[in-house]
Amino acid sequence: MSAPHLYKEATLMLPADIKRLHLDLTNNCNIKCPFCSRTKYLPHLDKKKPVDMDWCLISKRIKQIAGQLIHVSLCGTFGEPTLHPLILNIIQWFREHTTAKLSIDTNGTTHNAAWWHKLATLGVHVCFSIDGTSSENYTKYRVGADLNTVMSHMTSFIDGGGKAEWQFIVFKSNEHEIETAKTLARTLGCKIIFKTSRNYKNSFSKPLEFNPLNNKCNTCKFVHRKELYIAHDRQVEFCCRYQPRYSDTTLEPKIEKLYLSQLALFDLKHHELQDVLRTPYFEFMEKFYFKFCKKYHLGNDSELIT
Ligand SMILES: C[S@@+](CC[C@H](N)C(=O)[O-])C[C@H]1O[C@@H](n2cnc3c(N)ncnc32)[C@H](O)[C@@H]1O
Ligand code: SF4
Ligand code: SF4
Repeated sequence: MSAPHLYKEATLMLPADIKRLHLDLTNNCNIKCPFCSRTKYLPHLDKKKPVDMDWCLISKRIKQIAGQLIHVSLCGTFGEPTLHPLILNIIQWFREHTTAKLSIDTNGTTHNAAWWHKLATLGVHVCFSIDGTSSENYTKYRVGADLNTVMSHMTSFIDGGGKAEWQFIVFKSNEHEIETAKTLARTLGCKIIFKTSRNYKNSFSKPLEFNPLNNKCNTCKFVHRKELYIAHDRQVEFCCRYQPRYSDTTLEPKIEKLYLSQLALFDLKHHELQDVLRTPYFEFMEKFYFKFCKKYHLGNDSELIT
């Protein structure tokens, strides 16, 4: 079934225009970071069977655009991508169907050192989330993880020839470990990025001195970067940062009403990419996103790259 085309002269992005793909492979995770969307919006998940992206279906849907892509990000917003049961096949599929840069964001604590060594041979860039150089500060945010494990996996990945990046979210509690982290990253041979947290509250206070470059969302991922986001449950979203079915930061009741009334039309199980891109919600967002996103300061991930 196709989505209704209510606007004859749609100016929407077409599948042929897509340059970047962001896949949220799973809502499964082995740890519990306090401000993660998974912890916030899906707290019941630990008792339920996780949902892994239906790769058989999604690979068919994206095959037509794979060759034109310049970046594929397997980061996601609701889970740990390396826990998708087919993660290595998925990477292999992209290696066969596109020359795009392929990257994964990970907590780096899954599998074992040999697995990460093997991953390095598959030509994928890996960004390890490690927010601290002491076990105490690392586990304060990465609840349930182990610092020695992630460090040994990152080392194994680098030793295998992999391109690693270290991402460090800065809080008041781990701010004093920035210099040690920079030194360690240099020794290990990886780039390090320091980021502000999307939230600061309770025992996770704002850093006192860390002063990142301002990188507010003035370049829209969808409109300017031509990035398409597909969630673990096959839903296409306008961007990873604004998913009204979970959001409690109401941008605009009218948009959310429009979005919710069309939710079924964004499901790739029943619709092709071009149908989703031609829904009134996507057209509306493409024309007016800036009004809402600027007003509500969405996507204010700031970062300092050293
Ligand atoms: C939902 S995670 C998925 C990838 C992987 N599980 C991980 O944690 O790296 C997506 C990204 O959000 C980042 N993240 C987690 N908590 C954050 C926070 N409080 N502020 C900003 N980014 C955060 C993660 O480090 C990761 O880069
Ligand atoms: S490791 Fe990633 S997906 Fe898992 S809880 Fe932390 S931020 Fe969320
Ligand atoms: S938050 Fe708004 S401006 Fe940023 S990528 Fe999403 S829709 Fe675009």
